[in-house]
Amino acid sequence: MAKKPYHLRHQPRKSSSTTTQAFTVIILLLFFIMILLGLGILSLPNTSRNSSRPVDLTTIIRDSEESRESYGNEDGNGDRWVEVISWEPRAFLYHNFMTNEECEHLISLAKPSMKKSKVVDVKTGGSKDSRVRTSSGTFLKRGQDEIVEEIENRISDFTFIPVENGEGLQVLHYEVGQKYEPHHDYFSDEYNVKRGGNRIATVLMYLSDVEEGGETVFPAAKGNISDVPWWNELSQCGREGLSVLPKKRDALLFWSARPDASLDPSSLHGGCPVIKGNKWSSTKWFHFNEYTA
Ligand SMILES: *[C@@H]1O[C@H](CO)[C@@H](O)[C@H](O)[C@H]1NC(C)=O
Repeated sequence: MAKKPYHLRHQPRKSSSTTTQAFTVIILLLFFIMILLGLGILSLPNTSRNSSRPVDLTTIIRDSEESRESYGNEDGNGDRWVEVISWEPRAFLYHNFMTNEECEHLISLAKPSMKKSKVVDVKTGGSKDSRVRTSSGTFLKRGQDEIVEEIENRISDFTFIPVENGEGLQVLHYEVGQKYEPHHDYFSDEYNVKRGGNRIATVLMYLSDVEEGGETVFPAAKGNISDVPWWNELSQCGREGLSVLPKKRDALLFWSARPDASLDPSSLHGGCPVIKGNKWSSTKWFHFNEYTA
């Protein structure tokens, strides 16, 4: 009987002092870990969905200067990277979007059927000759061959707009002096929106380099138009707005509609006259809805 009280009295005392020591150690450890966390030496695994960054966009959208320095590589096809040109209108330049072979393929597909370019007649929905557009061109069929199909799939991957919403590729040729005056790609008439609704976005692929002129100009773009790194290379026409130099294999995406789906008048754009050399390009127009052939 005498042992039991002793045992009872002794045990709690011993365990309480061990517990205090253990607590002190744990608290010191926690404190130490907090300091390490605070200093950023340790980091907690991030399981929160909101702050996780599975795709770091800085790897595809790079500073234009930095990427221009490392332009091109040994196979001649260069890195693909995206440059934000403007937010009003929304315009983005995909560098090295096409391969050289694809550019040449589109040109040779189109060459036999090039005709003087027409503009859409807003009264009849047909096409008519125009002085504002002096190039020649032709339409390819959507998915005309495997290479065209591959290009169209890539365009859809990059623009996030389904292939079905696209018209067939148009291939255009501008010789010295030829141009396309500033215009909108969306329609204001009833007839032309019957198939697939209005146009939502345009992808313009440059299939050749142009020695001088031939810029794509956005005269209604908001912002400082002389801020572009290539300002000094622009023609007089190119300096009348925000301009993109035609560069073989690059593709320019611009939106005719704002994110709220209203038509964007700042998407006004033109093709400057070619001054030296000649310009081949290809256009993909996308509609709001499926564009049935
Ligand atoms: C526009 O940009 C150019 C070149 O960066 C600069 O020299 C000029 O001061 C800018 N103009 C305005 C109005 O911000």
